[in-house]
Amino acid sequence: MNDKPTIASFADFRPDREKFLAEALAGLGATPKTLPSKYFYDDRGSALFDLICELPEYYVTRVETALLGSIADEVATIIGQDAAIIEYGTGSSEKIRILLTALNRPAAFVGVDISGDALLGVTDAMARHFPDMAVHGVCADFTQPLKLPTLAGSGKRVVFFPGSSLGNFDHQQAEDFLANAAKTVGPDGALLIGIDLKKDVDTLNAAYDDAQGITAQFNLNLLTRLNRECGADFDLEDFRHRAFYNAKAGRVEMHLVSLRAQTVSLGGANIAFTKGETIHTENSYKYSTSEFQDLSRRAGLMPLHVWTDADQLFSLHYLHVGSQYYMP
Ligand code: AVJ
Repeated sequence: MNDKPTIASFADFRPDREKFLAEALAGLGATPKTLPSKYFYDDRGSALFDLICELPEYYVTRVETALLGSIADEVATIIGQDAAIIEYGTGSSEKIRILLTALNRPAAFVGVDISGDALLGVTDAMARHFPDMAVHGVCADFTQPLKLPTLAGSGKRVVFFPGSSLGNFDHQQAEDFLANAAKTVGPDGALLIGIDLKKDVDTLNAAYDDAQGITAQFNLNLLTRLNRECGADFDLEDFRHRAFYNAKAGRVEMHLVSLRAQTVSLGGANIAFTKGETIHTENSYKYSTSEFQDLSRRAGLMPLHVWTDADQLFSLHYLHVGSQYYMP
């Protein structure tokens, strides 16, 4: 076994402390108060998210992984050989391995993630596991435009965005993200996107408010990060996790509820909370198949295939980038 690191490139653009503080101050200074969900994923947050994926209530990961396994050969035929795959939000790497294993001689893989240490470990392991493929890591906030390395391979370029992570964006942001991803892969490229389906409220509420309280720890970890990295003085005992499906908006919302009237200091500012006031920390939008296909068309993409599991919990969409991107 050759155990030399074989990653083709690794770029580190992770947001620094100043950026985190500035975004936190902007969010906590607004009404209603918000914090960006991308900051969940420090090392502890990434580890907590991996635990969430194993929870009995959180069907998302289990159902998507099984669905991907059942369609992987079909997807591989559609994508063809010598492809380059760009994955946004490379977490535990289980799903991307299923896809890459099914593909015919994939030429290149780029993992993009905001959690640097996790990404370094995963890309390193992938490079060893797929020695004939060029493996790149880009640690970055992919809600912002970013520069990708030059990719080997003469086949299709495909963006893989699993996990319903697109659900963190509102509809306009999601449309913009898809249009940008289309530009990234170029004409004749494609996007394979995992999207959580609309379903009964009880299933959704349980998925984001599990009995073991792991999702609560994941949510509260944002405040732990602000204390450690930005010198804030949040008392974790004074805030509680709340998650619910907002049917009108078509999204699960996560909040941190202030259990009493209090003032918290952050970066020289004093942030006042009334009792019961919340910090809105995450949206997780859910889509019916036709709603997501309509959104894809608005982004200039052709929804060519959609697969769902037998219980209609989760969907995988294959979106083709047409020749319109050739037009001046
Ligand atoms: C990683 C954004 C897809 O919205 O389901 C899980 C994050 N938040 N439990 C989701 C999350 C609470 C997750 N995504």
